[in-house]
Amino acid sequence: MSAAIQPSEQFRQKALLNNDRLHLSAQKDRLGFWEQMAGELEWFKTWNKVLDEENAPYYRWFDGGKLNVSYNCLDRHVNSPRRNKAALIFEPENGTGATYTYYQLYRKVNYFANVLKKMGIGKGARVVIYMPMIPEAVIAMLACVRIGSVHSVVFSGFSAGALETRLNDLQASLLITVDEAYRRGKYIPLMENARAAVDNCKCVEKTMLIKRGSREIELNKKNELWYHELENDIPLYCQPEAMEAEDPLFILYSSGTTGRPKGILHTTGGYLVGVHTTFKYVFDCREEDIFWSTADIGWITGQSYIVYGPLSNGATSVLFEGTPDYPQKDRFWEIIEKYGVTIFYTAPTAISTFMRWGDKWAEKRDLSTLRLLGSVGEPIKPEAWSWYYLHIGKERCPIVDTWWQTETGMIMISTLPGVDKMKPGSAGRAFPGVCVEVVDEKGIPLPAGENGYLVITTPWPAMLRILFNDPERYESTYWQKFCGKFYTGDGARSDEDGYIWILGRVDDVINVSGHRLGTAEIEGDLVEHQAVVEAAVIGKDHQIKGQAVSAFVTLKEGVDGSEELAEELKRYITQKIGAIARPDDIFFATELPRTRSGKIMRRLLRDIAEGRAMGDTSTLLNPEEIETLREQYADESK
Ligand code: WTA
Repeated sequence: MSAAIQPSEQFRQKALLNNDRLHLSAQKDRLGFWEQMAGELEWFKTWNKVLDEENAPYYRWFDGGKLNVSYNCLDRHVNSPRRNKAALIFEPENGTGATYTYYQLYRKVNYFANVLKKMGIGKGARVVIYMPMIPEAVIAMLACVRIGSVHSVVFSGFSAGALETRLNDLQASLLITVDEAYRRGKYIPLMENARAAVDNCKCVEKTMLIKRGSREIELNKKNELWYHELENDIPLYCQPEAMEAEDPLFILYSSGTTGRPKGILHTTGGYLVGVHTTFKYVFDCREEDIFWSTADIGWITGQSYIVYGPLSNGATSVLFEGTPDYPQKDRFWEIIEKYGVTIFYTAPTAISTFMRWGDKWAEKRDLSTLRLLGSVGEPIKPEAWSWYYLHIGKERCPIVDTWWQTETGMIMISTLPGVDKMKPGSAGRAFPGVCVEVVDEKGIPLPAGENGYLVITTPWPAMLRILFNDPERYESTYWQKFCGKFYTGDGARSDEDGYIWILGRVDDVINVSGHRLGTAEIEGDLVEHQAVVEAAVIGKDHQIKGQAVSAFVTLKEGVDGSEELAEELKRYITQKIGAIARPDDIFFATELPRTRSGKIMRRLLRDIAEGRAMGDTSTLLNPEEIETLREQYADESK
């Protein structure tokens, strides 16, 4: 275990919190603590009860309370001295950016909300947002929540097929997208994906397009419309809908252990209280900060910590459309220098990539405005932690390693930067008001130092409320394994200070560059290919990506496991799900190694993919070899 590092005295002195009062107050009275935090938001009507556990695991937070998230993120600040403060700083991949003050963003959101209303979108309607990282995506999200419709942002790197699955599952009535997106200087015709998806979704009545590209595009008048061509008589102000605390706010799909992605549903009051509070204290948010999270809005990190957390705190949030290496490998550092970013939040994959690119890219730029760094999405290796601390934070900036999930909605485990010492590789303590444990297979808490399962033992306000349309899966995935404690799917151990060391997923979910992928989902798609009979997908260790996808497939009689077929299968997955799911390697096998009880021996597959079994990197597995390996591994796979 590496030595602990104290935050600098300079940081501590100015920090919002530099003592344990928040932890102590939450330990004394957990619900009282959350109630006090809820009081920092503006409610149209106050709640009757902080937490209703009667119908567990269908918990209700702040029941009876009424509020509007867009009101809290915009109107509240517009009616304050923050009115002309920058809310969003948009840095496009190419060209000139734009800054939106709270007032300007408020105007845009009101307009957009009225457009939605005019199109007949109302409370409870599901709207899918399939857009790149441009301000209109944030505006569309806030407009949806202003009128009480439920948004679901689909990552723009997903394919038409993945979009179609989500549109149909949601029975969405509106799709908001763009004509084209940019990536590394190239156009991506997002609209073609959107059209292909909508063709198979009867539910979608209209597709609204934001113009991003410059090419002429002919719209299908029946169901497609340009946002910029809408009539001018749209009123400037849209009354925010008074939503019940437990009304749905958004649904975000995430991969699980079965083939179908899970529609993780968050509700209005608890979610906002959770992200507001964690943003404020984990990022030590101050009025003059410029906060930049490099996540995509298609993932929970983007939703919670580009949009809702920062805006509800009246902070300035940077939205970057591009990639770290375009036009050069110093793009991130250039942005920090350009805007004077003070808090920077990124993923370990990115940090490992920067390390590989060498120190010179960051050295060229002025990073002196930075005062706090964050990490999320995967366990951060101590070497990457140290590089980040030294080369980006210059030993001046604390690092918050924040553990959380799409399901948790908000950061659950992290050090508080002005209070806690840092231990590279450990996320830290549970956030005040959050209770976690490391337990064994039977759910019994383990002593410090022993590896087990990470569970959350008490409800928290930003928790998911259900899996959309699938209460059974909600109960079985999260609540049944450990009898009412929330099962995270992660392995972990704690230490003598109560710090949590995350070991990674212990279920069939893999984490590629901080993106969650379900092995079953990729397997399900592979077997749809005409050449494939059976498929097993595992995550193998990867220097940069954390994990990479390796697929083992058996083929139909007479089909050859050729190099071309391997490439075709990789392309097939890219097309079915998106480039993030593209396998790094495809192994052809005459049969998949199974235990006597029929379970696929995934550990053996991992060892083959990582070069520990089989000796060479042969991509063809024959029955004799499999049999020999199966015997070798038999004792560990009963
Ligand atoms: C992993 C992303 C180690 C973990 C916010 C979790 C982490 C999954 C960390 C959730 C961290 C997230 N250290 N592992 N700081 N943060 N993870 O839903 O395995 O995309 O279960 O949410 O990412 O991924 P998701």
